[in-house]
Order: sequence, then C-alpha cells, then structure tokens
Amino acid sequence: MTTVTARSVVVGVVGRPISHSLSPIIHNAWIAAAGIEAVYVAVSPPEDGFAAFIAGLRGGGVLRGLNVTLPFKPQALALADDTTPRAKAAEAANLLVFQPDGAIWADNTDGLGLLSAFASQAPGFDPAAGPVAVLGAGGGARAAAAAFLAAGAPEVRLINRTLSKAWVVATLLGPKASAFKLDDAAAGFAGVNAIVNASSAGLLGEGSDLPFDAAPSTAVVMDMTYKPLLTPLLRDAQAAGLRTVDGLEMLIGQARPSFEAFFGRSPPPEVDVRSLALAVLGADA
Ligand code: ATR
Repeated sequence: MTTVTARSVVVGVVGRPISHSLSPIIHNAWIAAAGIEAVYVAVSPPEDGFAAFIAGLRGGGVLRGLNVTLPFKPQALALADDTTPRAKAAEAANLLVFQPDGAIWADNTDGLGLLSAFASQAPGFDPAAGPVAVLGAGGGARAAAAAFLAAGAPEVRLINRTLSKAWVVATLLGPKASAFKLDDAAAGFAGVNAIVNASSAGLLGEGSDLPFDAAPSTAVVMDMTYKPLLTPLLRDAQAAGLRTVDGLEMLIGQARPSFEAFFGRSPPPEVDVRSLALAVLGADA
C-alpha cells in the first residue's frame, strides 16, 4: 500500500453519480504496484457546477488529471483547450490532464478500451473485417461507431428505438454510417462482424429480444454495460452460439491509456485488476 503524503500526486474520476465507480479500485491497485506516490479519488460536483469545478483545477496544483464519466463527458470536451481527434470524433472526453501552463488537454480513451476488450476476449477479431452494428444513438453509441470506423470498419449501422436519433448520429459519422429502427434489427444484423450494445436498455435487466440468429455465427457481441457482467443481451447472444465481450474489459481497457497519460508509464501488467473489480462487483450485487 502506497502511503499518501503531502507530496502525493492526486488524480481521479468525476461523475454523477460516482459512488459505484470501479476506477479508483483499478488505478489505486496500479499506483501501489508501481510504487508511485499518488492517490486516485472519486469526485462528484453538482451538475450545474461542473464548469466552475474544472476552472479551479487549471494549472494542476489540485489534481494532475481526471477521468470523466456520465453525465460530464461532452462538457469536459467543450471546456478543454487542446483536444485529440478521437475525442472530437466522439464529441466527448473521458480524460482531462491539467497542464502546468494552465491549459486543459482532453482525450477519449473509450474507443481504445472498446477495441482492446475485443482483442482480449475475442482473440483473432479484426475490427476492419466487416460491418458493425451499434445499438443506441447516445454518446456511447457515437463513440463506439467512431472507434470502429477509425479502426477500419467498412460500415457501421446505428440501430435505435427512435430512428430519427440514429440518423442524426449516422449523418455526423459520414457516408459509411447508416441507421436502422430497432424493429428492423434483423436487417441491421445481416452479415455483421460485431454487434455493440451502447443503449441503456441493458441496464434495465430485461431480456434482449434481439434477433441474434440473423447475424453470422462468427459475429462477436459486446455490451458496454458491466452491471451485471453477463447482461441479458450477452446471455441471449451466447445462447445463439455467438462469442461475447463484456463491459468490464472495456473499462479496464480505457483505464490503461488514462494511467499512461497521468503518470507517463504503463500500468504494471502483473496486477489482476479484473479480479479486483469483480470482487467489488460481486460484493455490490
Ligand atoms: P449515452 O449514455 O450513451 O449518451 P443516452 O443518450 O442516455 O446514452 O441514450 C440511451 C440510448 O438507449 C438511446 O439510444 C435510447 O433509445 P432512444 O433514442 O429511442 O431513446 C436507448 N434506450 C433506452 N432505453 C431503451 C429501451 N428500453 N429499449 C431500447 N432502447 C432504449
């Protein structure tokens, strides 16, 4: 256990709500194993006080950097001075670094997390090998679709309960993106390489009722939700014989490049952060 001292570098995660975040468990385990004099905290300013909160962090004297989660990701991007192309493409930032000169640097590592989750749980998966179906039309769906397009996917299909919202996102993403109504999911699943759930439907715990039999048997299905780890959607996909990827692996996958941005080094690979997070998830259930 690293001792927290007056010299400790402070980093953290900001969101609302935040008390169930697994990020402090993951980052503090890496900090301890790496022997870095630092601590990772969770903070939750009022929704209408986010801009003032961030303004007070300029210069890095309070916090060196922050991960950002719901509902603050779009605002975090808007408040930054320097933004990476992938954060711009997602129209959201999940990572802010407060530079000594007062500037705020913003990135989005969610796409990296998404693709690294596929790489670790679906060995051999190639994101460029075919069309991808993304369920939902919110910020998570947009980030997932942008990540797959950046990784070479030839086509992304936004599938959403409200078709007009899917078209808004598809239009922003460009000519490789199209939109389908949730009722037409079978058409959207035809010939896909992957299906990603970025809708909040999985959070509610109901059965997915999705036509997984319309997808090729080689398709890989991912759910960005990790509570529960095996969502009804992933259970249905497995019952249809498809390989699955879970949202916890994506959370860990976005945390790694965040740690690198905070501390200028990779997290120690020997720490089994997945088991640590699973122990907390199990205890919460
Ligand atoms: P994010 O958190 O990624 O920004 P959001 O803006 O909260 O997401 O959007 C939630 C998504 O889940 C939307 O695509 C929503 O569909 P609508 O655009 O039709 O509202 C989808 N969603 C939420 N509940 C759903 C349900 N019960 N069935 C299907 N889709 C649902």
